[in-house]
Amino acid sequence: MKAPRGTQDILPGTSEKWQFVESALIELCRKYNYQEIRTPVFEHTELFQRGVGDTTDIVQKEMYTFEDRGGRSLTLRPEGTASVVRSFVEHKVFGLPMQPTKLFYIGPMFRYERPQQGRMRQFYQFGIEALGSADPAIDAEVMALAMAAYQELGLKSLKLVINSLGDTESRKQHREALINHFDPHREELCQDCQVRLDKNPLRVLDCKKDREHPAMATAPSVLEYLNEESREYFEQVKSYLDAMEIPYVVDKNLVRGLDYYNHTAFEIMSDAEGFGAITTLSGGGRYNGLVEEMGGPETPGIGFALSIERLLMALEAEGIELPVDEGIDCYFLALGNQAEKEAVRLTYQLRKAGVQVDKDYLGRKIKSQFKSADRLKAKYVIVLGENELEAGQANVKLMETGEQKEIPLTELVTYLKNELAGGK
Ligand code: HAM
Repeated sequence: MKAPRGTQDILPGTSEKWQFVESALIELCRKYNYQEIRTPVFEHTELFQRGVGDTTDIVQKEMYTFEDRGGRSLTLRPEGTASVVRSFVEHKVFGLPMQPTKLFYIGPMFRYERPQQGRMRQFYQFGIEALGSADPAIDAEVMALAMAAYQELGLKSLKLVINSLGDTESRKQHREALINHFDPHREELCQDCQVRLDKNPLRVLDCKKDREHPAMATAPSVLEYLNEESREYFEQVKSYLDAMEIPYVVDKNLVRGLDYYNHTAFEIMSDAEGFGAITTLSGGGRYNGLVEEMGGPETPGIGFALSIERLLMALEAEGIELPVDEGIDCYFLALGNQAEKEAVRLTYQLRKAGVQVDKDYLGRKIKSQFKSADRLKAKYVIVLGENELEAGQANVKLMETGEQKEIPLTELVTYLKNELAGGK
């Protein structure tokens, strides 16, 4: 049996990297004051149809949708924003005194896509959502956190690409302009785009098949259709990025693949050499109107998400090693039945005292037990044989220097605790 296509097992050796990255992201959220939210892995299908949008690729072709035994249509979440907004409305979080509501999540998402490097059917997203503020400074905060997520792990080859899609009015004007522009070429566009042209013409700009069509290059840009308010909003977002000295480029063709966006849209790309074909590391934007769409009061929102898979790929492409291969603190070597029993007891005591320790469980000879200690890169090896046991002490060896000491068994826990704390 093999794991399904587009999924992967994360085994020891690699899982430490995931833990390291996840801890760093959680710590980052602490600094920016985003709190964790955990929502279900599956939701009612309608949530994504309404939230992500009926005409998006995600909803049309990529969802894992199934009927449960009660005949309900459920879907494995393809992204986190719709669920967070659903939960925000369901629990009336908008009514809590502390606003805006700043949330983060880490968890698996599911999309039926053609798997390739950096594109999985099950992948892990880390994302944040800030609900309840239409201050352009929070757009800049979300982008600052998104960039910091990579920078704090040492990544350098990053590019922040931003655009504005404008408010509903600007989008409407732009939509009409797009229809007028593409309509004469309708027959030359792919089947999908012919449908998109009626339902969601913005998505035509994002089509991979029609990318080379001459009408693409001359298509009206969103930026030309921004009304005064939207233009001013975008200017302010940029001025806050400037204030933090966060470099960015404006790309008027950046439209994003989900329907809920307006105003600010952004992506972070890797320009590291050898990163691979898919260079987008993360994306996000503003989604004023989504909370109302989900039945809540008028509430602005903005957020972004990255996948941990692509973050790890970027670290590899830039040759960054995470400090995870550190080895364990102690390995306990015992010889003989009596010593073995004492080793079990002391190992337990050491662990209770907070010391990381392991021992042999395969009845190995002393030489192989030493080998295990080496393999585990133990800092200290504790040896307890019949002689030591009789003398009521253990031999403790500091592996780095080879220095050895006989320590009374009654003092072993305190001794190792102090040693590991740096002799304090
Ligand atoms: P998205 O652009 O669909 O946006 O996905 C965000 C990120 O998830 C992508 O930039 C990419 O790193 C990663 N990703 C997407 N699909 C895959 C895949 N098949 N395999 C590996 N990684 C993948 C969203 O999901 C929005 N909910 C982001 C957001 C939050 N906007 C506002 N708030």
